[in-house]
Amino acid sequence: MTVLDVQGLTVRTAEGTVLVDNLSLTVGRGERLGLIGESGSGKSLTTLAVLGLLPRGITATGSVELAGTQIVGASEKQLTAVRGRDAAVVFQEPLTALDPLMRAGRQLAEPLRRRGLKGAALKQAVTDALEQVRLPEPDRIARSFPHEMSGGQRQRVALAMALACDPALLIADEPTTALDVSVQAEMLDLIDTLVRERDMAVVFVSHDLAVVARITDRAVVLRAGRAVEEGPVLDLVRAPGHAYTKSLVSSAQRLESALDLGGTR
Ligand SMILES: Nc1ncnc2c1ncn2[C@@H]1O[C@H](COP(=O)(O)OP(=O)(O)OP(=O)(O)O)[C@@H](O)[C@H]1O
Ligand SMILES: [Mg+2]
Repeated sequence: MTVLDVQGLTVRTAEGTVLVDNLSLTVGRGERLGLIGESGSGKSLTTLAVLGLLPRGITATGSVELAGTQIVGASEKQLTAVRGRDAAVVFQEPLTALDPLMRAGRQLAEPLRRRGLKGAALKQAVTDALEQVRLPEPDRIARSFPHEMSGGQRQRVALAMALACDPALLIADEPTTALDVSVQAEMLDLIDTLVRERDMAVVFVSHDLAVVARITDRAVVLRAGRAVEEGPVLDLVRAPGHAYTKSLVSSAQRLESALDLGGTR
């Protein structure tokens, strides 16, 4: 079964500048797809279009079917029903998802309440969700405001919120880029473990091929809003067909040898 079916997605500014150009991709149930490309290639706009979250003045045409719902042209009511239930997102910057004035536990309770939980069961579900993202002292975190947590803790809370509704598709847009290098690998490992356990479909966005190779099986390479190549990630790494993919691979390798990360993956 297809969870996400994007056909001929084009994203434009009000002036008519094309930012994503006739993009097509599909993600099957439990499948993990990478979206790779350098800064400005249209990765984030693609994920925002999938969730019907494009900023004002930016419009999408074409077809985006998410768990059977057409997102392009959908009403806000339809979109609200789809978000969380069918697809959830983790952004690069965890503060995007978190309300600065609300304790973590209360924020996390909202999606769980929508699933019908209340009272002691709701409280327990909040604790469980925080434990699942490997937050020690879940009760203390539940009482904390976002500014009282570290970046890594905030991203874990944001991930717990995204997973709370058990969506069919998780979209992760560079979820580790804003984190300290020391916690990046841990966060990747956590996402990897949780989505595999739940057999959740994933669209994983990154400019880093090595990161994408760790999480996903197949990837689409975006350049200036266009898909230039698509295939199994390992094939893309071993035998990039397109010069642009080649340059992404060699810059990843240069970085890897500079940091001497060769033996860690
Ligand atoms: N609101 C907007 N109005 C006009 N242009 C925009 C807007 N948002 C993004 N763009 C342009 O669209 C292009 C794609 O942006 P997008 O944010 O999708 O890139 P990206 O691949 O996610 O990059 P990064 O890796 O830096 O996050 C860029 O050239 C950007 O300048
Ligand atoms: Mg982006």
